[in-house]
Amino acid sequence: MKTEPYPLALRGLLLLSIGALAVLGLGLVIGGAAAPLPLADPGPVVRLGQPITKLILNLSMATAVGSLVLASFAANDDERARLQPVASWSASIWLFAGAANFIFTYLSASGSEVTYGSQFSESLWLFATQIELGTLLAFNLGFAFLLSLSTIAFGGRRMTAVNAAIGIAGLYPLAESGHASSDSGHALAVNSLLMHLIGISVWVGGLIALYAVFRAGNERTQVLVSRYSTLALLAFIAVGVSGLTSGFIRLYGPEDIFSPYGLLLIGKAGLLVLLGIFGARYRLGAISKISASASGFWRLVGVELFIMGSAIGLGTALATTALPENPNEFVPPTPAELLTGDPLPPELTPSAWATVWDIDILWLSIALGAIGLYLFGVLRLRSRGDSWPIGRTLSWVSGMLVLIYVTNGAPNAYQEFLFSTHMVGHMILSMMVPVFLVPGAPVTLLSRAQTARKDGSWGLREWVLWAVHTPYAWFISHPLFAGLNFALSLVMFYYTPLFRWSTEEHLGHQWMLVHFLITGYLFVQALIGVDPQPHRPGYPLKLILLIGTMAFHAFFGLSLMNEKSLLLADWFGSMGRAWGDDPLTDQAVGGAFAWGVGEIPTIVITTIVVWQWSRSDDRERKRLDRASDRSGNKDLEDYNAMLESLSKTRDSR
Ligand code: HEM
Repeated sequence: MKTEPYPLALRGLLLLSIGALAVLGLGLVIGGAAAPLPLADPGPVVRLGQPITKLILNLSMATAVGSLVLASFAANDDERARLQPVASWSASIWLFAGAANFIFTYLSASGSEVTYGSQFSESLWLFATQIELGTLLAFNLGFAFLLSLSTIAFGGRRMTAVNAAIGIAGLYPLAESGHASSDSGHALAVNSLLMHLIGISVWVGGLIALYAVFRAGNERTQVLVSRYSTLALLAFIAVGVSGLTSGFIRLYGPEDIFSPYGLLLIGKAGLLVLLGIFGARYRLGAISKISASASGFWRLVGVELFIMGSAIGLGTALATTALPENPNEFVPPTPAELLTGDPLPPELTPSAWATVWDIDILWLSIALGAIGLYLFGVLRLRSRGDSWPIGRTLSWVSGMLVLIYVTNGAPNAYQEFLFSTHMVGHMILSMMVPVFLVPGAPVTLLSRAQTARKDGSWGLREWVLWAVHTPYAWFISHPLFAGLNFALSLVMFYYTPLFRWSTEEHLGHQWMLVHFLITGYLFVQALIGVDPQPHRPGYPLKLILLIGTMAFHAFFGLSLMNEKSLLLADWFGSMGRAWGDDPLTDQAVGGAFAWGVGEIPTIVITTIVVWQWSRSDDRERKRLDRASDRSGNKDLEDYNAMLESLSKTRDSR
């Protein structure tokens, strides 16, 4: 494939950088962050150095992640090898910009000057280890360091995907820092910014990598650009939804829209619309014309990179701009606000289970995305004239709707404040959601709906089929492991520091959601799974596993109901809640829920296992009948002959 030399690629990158720097400057002026601080101003070098290094960090981080995601999901071996230098260079720039940003942030936060003694490095170490913002930036730096080494050392298919995962994990500390670190609405702020940063990295980073490496006008480039365009469409939606959510939770009233922060938000929304128009233009024709006029296409991409740079510049300025004034700033916080950062929700009445919601934009998007992708797969099968059982579709959609309820509805709104609702959420997540999702047979649908790649690259289909056939998948999907993991996870979670971590830390809570969803899914898949799996346990073993789990749930629930001391007493016991049961009674109610709510899906699964058993017996009988018919009932004759010889033997004795 003939490509133009790198220096030409710099043209697009130059456009991107000019847009980013110019708009960062403009944003800092409009937002007020360029002006000297009234107190303890760190001076212009630090005041401008911090956002400029943050801008370079944002751009290089996005390029590293975007190029690795593109290499993992769109490129074949040769193209992946050509993307690797982009990933390792940008990871190294991320590392250096991150280090500079770390120092500038320390100087602007501490108001101290750069000195050359050990005292300065000790205070930097203190900042990195004792101050939350410093620790988060240090973690981001750690990921950049790891990635800058692993992208040089490893370029194989699987390790490129691992590198992409390291890059995406490196975004998390930044999502927890900055304005998102303030307590109020912390969970929504962090999840929406994380979604924002992942979307931007795949979208902007992917386009930078494409522009830097594949600016030819041939069929292969067309394939890569159209695969990127699918990723870009999903990223565009994610960036828009998460950006508006992040913006919305930081404005306290309509008047804040015209605050400096609000004006920058409007600017960003405008740039997003512009970028949407570019995206539509590509999907409506420009991609198919690449072979005809490559230079025209890449000129268009150059302009888009300028706008993307501007949006990143504006985003960086926004992160440095003071938030609109919080009208409740000086209202003394309640005990619940001191602990959770959020006000106590209204009393948990029966109707509150339906009316009180606490939206989590990340889980809402994941569940709606999973419904959208599933229905897209079913429509694709239908358009090919293939059928797909409606029962499976309904089951999958119901499972995702239940997941939306447990991560956005009353269970999510009350789980921080009430042990009982925490337990309800837990049981629905680990038992009820999987009971609906597993019969949806998502792996079978994916493998049938998406055509297999023939060009040596791996798409979603290839990755999923590889993953379910790995030795690791063999081990964790084994019914015995799935059963033990399901049962013991409960005890491991509630009776170890994991419970405190997942209650007090946002990352811990996300881990809990993912762990129990997967644990429940593996268990239910092992028992009633439709998708292909390496183990085919007999029905008796399945029923034993189910009875074992039921008994375990009952034992766990009862032990909680009889518990005399409160779990996490300094949390659930200090909420200052004037309504509902006292914390210990509420904990006992939680135990009852663990027993009650846990048993319902278990009974459903048992019914399905017995039904599958009877059906498989039916099938077996019919198969034997058909074989007997085909052999002219030879088996029956043999059987009768055997009986006859037996009776003859007995009579001769
Ligand atoms: C509707 C459009 C958008 C809205 C409402 C929006 C809103 C936001 C908000 C509220 C933040 C958090 C800032 C803070 O910490 O206070 C943010 C961060 C950011 N946004 Fe957007 N955004 C939008 C579109 C975009 C687009 C299209 C891009 C780039 C292509 C982008 C790039 C960024 C970046 C890089 C950050 C992180 C800045 C940092 O922490 O340094 N945003 N955005």
